[in-house]
Amino acid sequence: MQILIKAKTHNYLIVLLSLVTISFIVLYSVQSISYLNTPVEERYLLKDLDGLYGPSGLYGHGVGFLAAFFMFLLWLYIIRKRWNKLRGLGRLSQWLKYHMWFGITAPLLAGYHAAFKFEGLIGVMYWAMIAVMLSGIVGRYLYGHIPRSRDGHEMSMKQINTEKATKLRELQMEFGIDSKDIKKIQGLTPQLSGAGTLASLYHLLVFDFKRRFQLNQILKDFEARYGVSKQNLLFFKGTIENQLIMSQRVVVLDAVSKVFHWWHVIHKPFAYAIFIVLTLHIILTLSFGFTWIF
Ligand code: HEM
Ligand code: HEM
Repeated sequence: MQILIKAKTHNYLIVLLSLVTISFIVLYSVQSISYLNTPVEERYLLKDLDGLYGPSGLYGHGVGFLAAFFMFLLWLYIIRKRWNKLRGLGRLSQWLKYHMWFGITAPLLAGYHAAFKFEGLIGVMYWAMIAVMLSGIVGRYLYGHIPRSRDGHEMSMKQINTEKATKLRELQMEFGIDSKDIKKIQGLTPQLSGAGTLASLYHLLVFDFKRRFQLNQILKDFEARYGVSKQNLLFFKGTIENQLIMSQRVVVLDAVSKVFHWWHVIHKPFAYAIFIVLTLHIILTLSFGFTWIF
């Protein structure tokens, strides 16, 4: 069974979740500032505040549960991706958005739970979490440069070429763009055959940096010559941008895929280690009698 919710709905939900979280963090920071600002070795003197905002305090401990809950929820993306039976359950690309949201929010909340005091194995793991979170942002950048179908699965070279050809045909049929101008768009992407991985990554950054400028120049020129109407402008702009993006992604695809593969090799073991240490941390603290309100 296919269950699909519009991408916009997910975006609104993520914005809403972010607003709630930011409000919570601001409120929590204001309330706990005098405790968090006290040097760690003097905190035990603030008995009342320690009982509220310390790692085993009423609120601090609760925030720990929330952080751990989010840390476990981010694995849903991996389960959805790996388990074929769940294929019909929403688009993979939408699941990734939640993975990223949980991946950023959980370490943030965990910092408040630990009252920004990171000691022992779980303290080391906290920094590993931050490293995985930051590496996730780099991974997302690379992920976005691998052409994908709407459901988030990687496109084959054949699919990429078909998509490019369809868009080119649209430009020719809808707007009468002649082949000289089509070549002009294609000529904006240098061929990088033989370039090494690092050089390709450098070009990737340059492409991203220059694309808006290139797009504006083409649009100015074409709008004047082909007289694109206001109603069609968005479609026209989108189609040309798609052409530029596709051409640029194709020339750096080998390098991006290679680096993304290595990125997985590093990101994954750290993620598993965090999962194990966090589970141990929870079992140990519970068995020492830190059961929060229960
Ligand atoms: C992402 C989730 C979590 C992270 C990253 C995390 C991390 C930490 C860190 C860094 C500390 C401070 C260690 C220290 O003071 O030396 C701590 C303390 C503590 N955590 Fe967590 N924690 C998480 C979730 C939880 C959960 C779900 C529980 C509930 C069972 C929990 C219970 C505790 C307790 C009771 C302490 C205080 C221990 C003590 O005072 O000796 N934590 N945690
Ligand atoms: C502590 C937090 C995080 C943990 C434990 C975590 C864990 C994981 C794991 C286990 C995978 C699967 C790797 C694989 O299939 O080989 C993954 C993939 C990924 N994560 Fe995270 N992640 C975290 C945070 C983030 C953040 C903050 C972002 C981005 C902002 C992010 C972006 C990604 C991306 C783009 C992928 C690859 C998706 C794919 O290839 O299908 N992650 N993460």
